[in-house]
Amino acid sequence: MEIKKQQSLRGVLSVPGDKSISHRAVMFGALAKGTTRVSHFLEGADCLSTISCFRKMGIDIEKDGEDLLIHGRGLRGLNSPREILNAGNSGTTTRLISGILAGQKFISELDGDASLRSRPMKRIIDPLTAMGADIRSRMDNGCMPLRIAGRPLHTVHYNSPVASAQVKSCVLLAGMYADGVTSVTEPFLSRNHTEIMLNYFGAKVTSQGTTASIQPEPELSAREVRVPGDISSAAFFIAAGLLTPNSEILLKDVGINPTRAGILKICRQMGADITLLNENHQGEPTADLLVRTSSLKGTVIQGADIPTLIDEIPVLAIMAAFADGTTVIRDAQELKVKESDRIAVMVENLKRMGADIAGTDDGMIIRGGKPLHGAVIDPHMDHRVAMSFAVAGTVCQGAMEITDGDCVKISYPDFYEDLYRLG
Ligand code: S3P
Repeated sequence: MEIKKQQSLRGVLSVPGDKSISHRAVMFGALAKGTTRVSHFLEGADCLSTISCFRKMGIDIEKDGEDLLIHGRGLRGLNSPREILNAGNSGTTTRLISGILAGQKFISELDGDASLRSRPMKRIIDPLTAMGADIRSRMDNGCMPLRIAGRPLHTVHYNSPVASAQVKSCVLLAGMYADGVTSVTEPFLSRNHTEIMLNYFGAKVTSQGTTASIQPEPELSAREVRVPGDISSAAFFIAAGLLTPNSEILLKDVGINPTRAGILKICRQMGADITLLNENHQGEPTADLLVRTSSLKGTVIQGADIPTLIDEIPVLAIMAAFADGTTVIRDAQELKVKESDRIAVMVENLKRMGADIAGTDDGMIIRGGKPLHGAVIDPHMDHRVAMSFAVAGTVCQGAMEITDGDCVKISYPDFYEDLYRLG
């Protein structure tokens, strides 16, 4: 994919549905009784992996016009899969489904692509084992493939060493099959879509500070879910609109759940001109975001803010490289175990553009404002890295070439078309 410098970016855009919420709508719809209708579902490869796993367990999932219909069969209505469940590139599919599979009456196997096979699964094997689950890493390396033999589960109060919504959700979902109240405490609050949506489907989930608890054996009932626009996809157009001269972009109906919207806070810290319009605070909060060209300055990103913007750090690193002054990113060691090692891959590729950037154990230090030029970028098949450098390509001197550019289909199949339309 080749990207060239843009004179301006202008227009109105509806970004695709939120990836985290789309996954959860399929999973909870499958476990509910009745038909769940999902609108603005993200048809990215990751969410299609979730659909494929539930189809293999006998759940009927169909398109109805633009909507998705999931014919749920109740908490204990899944069938034993005849094939290995393939989660593709998706950590969310793997970690959330494992919590569900741990409490079933059958044996299942889960596998994924090379990137997913290298990501840590001990973080879910440990709490599930503490609940009495029989879950094993087939190669005994704490990674996929996984074999899960469903069993009756016990309650646990799990102190998670990482702030991870995937770990938290895994334990809460297993908790639906446990013999009492199950809870998870995390060091900082991670995204709370599971808590919000499970309650909407009829479960009893409570949250206090960074602890979430669930009561067992909920009766989940089918619901209508409208998936908000994904702030993690909007982030690329926020960055592109702020950095490209003479730009004004209106992003419609974007999710602004505070556990996800850290990018808005950091953009403001950097001096960004972003206005929230038409805010709606029912269920998952949403707003339209009006983004205008701004001159940005460096900032510090750390601590409790990190889980609220973890997927946006690659594009924040691009913004920091174009900003005046130094940006320091700390407490973000989780970046090393995402779809790629996002510290190493961002440092490698930003250096190719001439940026002054150093990787650290838990983040990056970026001295912004150096003149940056186009380069051949290797995103290591990581969708968010590819889109981040496409944004850089709209601003830097000379053409930007991104190898394996079509990895964007994981979360944003029409990304390049949308960027092209605004340019
Ligand atoms: C996700 C949680 C985050 C995020 C991922 C989606 C989710 O991962 O990076 O893209 O849907 O729960 P962790 O919870 O492991 O940090």
